[in-house]
Amino acid sequence: MWLAAACMGTGLSLAAQTTNLPDAMRNPFASDSTAAPAGKVLYEQTCQSCHGGEAKGDRGPALNGNLKHGSSDTDLFQTMRTGIPGTQMPGFSFLSADSVWKIITYLRTLDENRNDDKEKVIGDPVAGESIFFGHAKCSQCHEVNGRGGVLAGDLSSIGVNSAAYLRGWILHPGAPGSTAAAVSSTPERKSHGGGGGNDGPLAGLTEVVKARGGEEMRGVRIADDGFTLLIRDTSGAVRSFDISQLLERREDLRPLMPDDYGKTLASTELQDLTAYLKAQKFRDLTKTAQADISGGVTPQRLENSSKEPENWLSYWGDYRGSHFAPLTEITPANVNRLSAQWAVQMPGVSVLETTPLVVDGIMYTSGPPGEVYALDAKTGLQIWKYERRQKVVNPYETNPFSRGIAILGNRVFVGTLDAALVALDARTGRVLWETQIADTLQGYTITAAPLAVKDKIIVGIAGGEFGIRGFLDAYDARTGKRLWRFNTVPEPGEFGNDTWNGDSWKRGSGATWLTGSYDPDLNTLYWTVGNPSPSLNSVVREGDNLFTCSVLALDPDTGVRKWHYQFTPGDTHDWDSNEDVILADQTIGGEKRKVLLHADRNGMFYTLDRIKGKFISATPYVRQTWNSGFDSTGRPILAPNWKSSPEGAIVAPSLIGGANWQNPSYDDGRSTLFLIAYDGGSFYRSAPALYEPGRQYSGGAPGGDHEPGTIKILAIDTVTGKIRWDYPLVRRSFAIGVLATRTGLLFAGTAEGNIIALDSETGKHLWHFQAGGNIASAPMSYSVDGKQYIALAAGNVLYSFALPN
Ligand code: HEC
Ligand code: HEC
Repeated sequence: MWLAAACMGTGLSLAAQTTNLPDAMRNPFASDSTAAPAGKVLYEQTCQSCHGGEAKGDRGPALNGNLKHGSSDTDLFQTMRTGIPGTQMPGFSFLSADSVWKIITYLRTLDENRNDDKEKVIGDPVAGESIFFGHAKCSQCHEVNGRGGVLAGDLSSIGVNSAAYLRGWILHPGAPGSTAAAVSSTPERKSHGGGGGNDGPLAGLTEVVKARGGEEMRGVRIADDGFTLLIRDTSGAVRSFDISQLLERREDLRPLMPDDYGKTLASTELQDLTAYLKAQKFRDLTKTAQADISGGVTPQRLENSSKEPENWLSYWGDYRGSHFAPLTEITPANVNRLSAQWAVQMPGVSVLETTPLVVDGIMYTSGPPGEVYALDAKTGLQIWKYERRQKVVNPYETNPFSRGIAILGNRVFVGTLDAALVALDARTGRVLWETQIADTLQGYTITAAPLAVKDKIIVGIAGGEFGIRGFLDAYDARTGKRLWRFNTVPEPGEFGNDTWNGDSWKRGSGATWLTGSYDPDLNTLYWTVGNPSPSLNSVVREGDNLFTCSVLALDPDTGVRKWHYQFTPGDTHDWDSNEDVILADQTIGGEKRKVLLHADRNGMFYTLDRIKGKFISATPYVRQTWNSGFDSTGRPILAPNWKSSPEGAIVAPSLIGGANWQNPSYDDGRSTLFLIAYDGGSFYRSAPALYEPGRQYSGGAPGGDHEPGTIKILAIDTVTGKIRWDYPLVRRSFAIGVLATRTGLLFAGTAEGNIIALDSETGKHLWHFQAGGNIASAPMSYSVDGKQYIALAAGNVLYSFALPN
């Protein structure tokens, strides 16, 4: 568990009705004739006082037409579940999913849009589909349910418009009402909530540009801030232009859609196409989950990420957990000229803790929880933004952060605080699937970046504060189906269950809330496991409590355990082991070894053999008073009175640890690990613990007194375990990652808002920039057109720095 900053109590009453949230947000009662009358009764009891009879509006708005907060089934479901913060619209978490759907079914019977459905649409939608994807080539530019192109809008829910509007568009793109012969009156467009991509106010505006030495190019405008123009060209790729360098630029008010369908399509074909479009009422996630995933970031690219140093393809920058910048343009000699190139504001409930990814000039990053952005990595201009409201909120939720995302193929994967895993189309930000992986009302959330391995998405779970039962999951990147689950707290019959007494394993925690590492040669996934629960009291869980405070080596194809090593058996200090695992090759005693390096929260820096999981060495990197050495098997020899007790005692390191999840950086060439460390102790006192689902389960006296300690950046020699240098930080700048570069720089941040650069050989300060926000993220590096950038979030602003041209 990370710093338990309890943010209690909205006083909401929540029933445990939400465990079976539907995967694809689809109304199961849509064609059930008994649902609407039942929904009407529920509506009259629950909603009518504000929204009026027949939902015609009263204190709250009318609900029988297009809605400001989205009209799709998913939108309505979410609005009812979460309410609309800051307004009188409450969240109805006590209504069961079935009741919510029945109300939606009732509201649909009032929907004015339904008049369209009574309109006679002649034509065969099945024939229309083959025309759409066949010779009319509509799918070159448009998608329906994940199938098709990304240049133009998603037509998955275009059928909420009238047939006249649709026919009008096909015949006269951009001016659907222009022929009185075809339509009786100018048909109006209805919002169909395509979501993401080019569906903004500038949608459809055609740009014609000619850059120096280039052909004239046509595309759809994405963004224009007066200096930079972003367009999507006819191949669907995003292009960024310096406007001052364009030889020619003009806008074309006609959309980039062929305007001769009136000639090339027979009138029956036109009818069939219209019937097909009219049938598209909502984006169907059961279909989008089947969409093609090829291209983009392939598993091969992820394995060979060192061949593309310009990109940052996964959370740690590579599979080895290095979090290191191999780029060489920025050096100790020129770093003092570094200057901010752009900044993007991402306001939200919590400061940014994310590490962005960069793929071929596009930055993908999570913002505040539930938000994902695609940005032009050179200018920060937004390509798309995905926003998802939390469907269910545990009122005792403590860590509202998103630490990052994964990318595989043409998809971006993000976990949510209500424990869903979401796959987005990386080109548009449109949702492809969403899988509920656990129940947040029991304390489960996802804060870590998932990891893409081969065709799978590996996802860890957070919630070690709440007495969850931890696991690590793998999902099919294509469909979102779960492929395996490894229980980090074994049940009876599973290896290690005898390290828990009674049924304490049922709420033993063992969260997996930081991204792991992967060795493709050994086909092994390495993932760390968090604290046992209750975290400060082991009376109810006597034993080693496997696999808490351990590292697991798993077969990524099956989830089967190869080995494990436990850093702190039966811990009572919240020393979870959710810190980075670094895969390195080292010569030890004249022998080349494949090792795993890990600076644990318990204050020790470990070297393990990563083939067999054997202990090689451990050295304290901060003061520690719990460990008196290791036996021949590598098991720690525990100091007397090392556990929390009812009387309490000071033990080092502190509750927040020697180190925590903040990204360290490993420089292989210099055999040095850089990290932020807290050198100090805590007063650990245990107290009786009462388990209640979804509530904190710590078993400790809150806020044990900290022994005054110091915060510093450390450079650890990974061969000897010795500290090379330290750089003291004034205030408690603990939640910050560091980034070393091949050229001998170390980037970090301070709680006072400074982004700093040190000489990584000596720890000498070289440069700083006051970013004006509390820094709780980690720097990363990338390059575009040969220019190196350093990106880092401070407060709720994401910055990117580079040398002047
Ligand atoms: C205490 C009054 C109140 C109750 C009860 C209430 N609502 Fe609301 N609702 C509001 C208000 C006010 C808004 C407008 C919020 C805003 O300003 O965006 C709203 C907005 C909405 C919206 C979004 C409308 C839009 O334009 O996007 C939906 C959908 C909705 N409510 C559905 C319901 C349903 C269904 C129920 C019953 C389960 C319900 N509400 C009960 C007050 C209420
Ligand atoms: C070369 C690209 C291209 C092709 C091919 C194309 N379109 Fe479009 N279409 C666009 C663009 C650009 C727009 C403008 C708005 C947008 O992006 O959705 C548009 C808009 C539309 C709209 C209005 C969307 C709305 O949100 O109101 C409809 C309907 C539509 N197209 C249907 C079709 C159909 C049917 C075909 C095939 C017969 C087709 N289009 C072929 C590019 C194309």
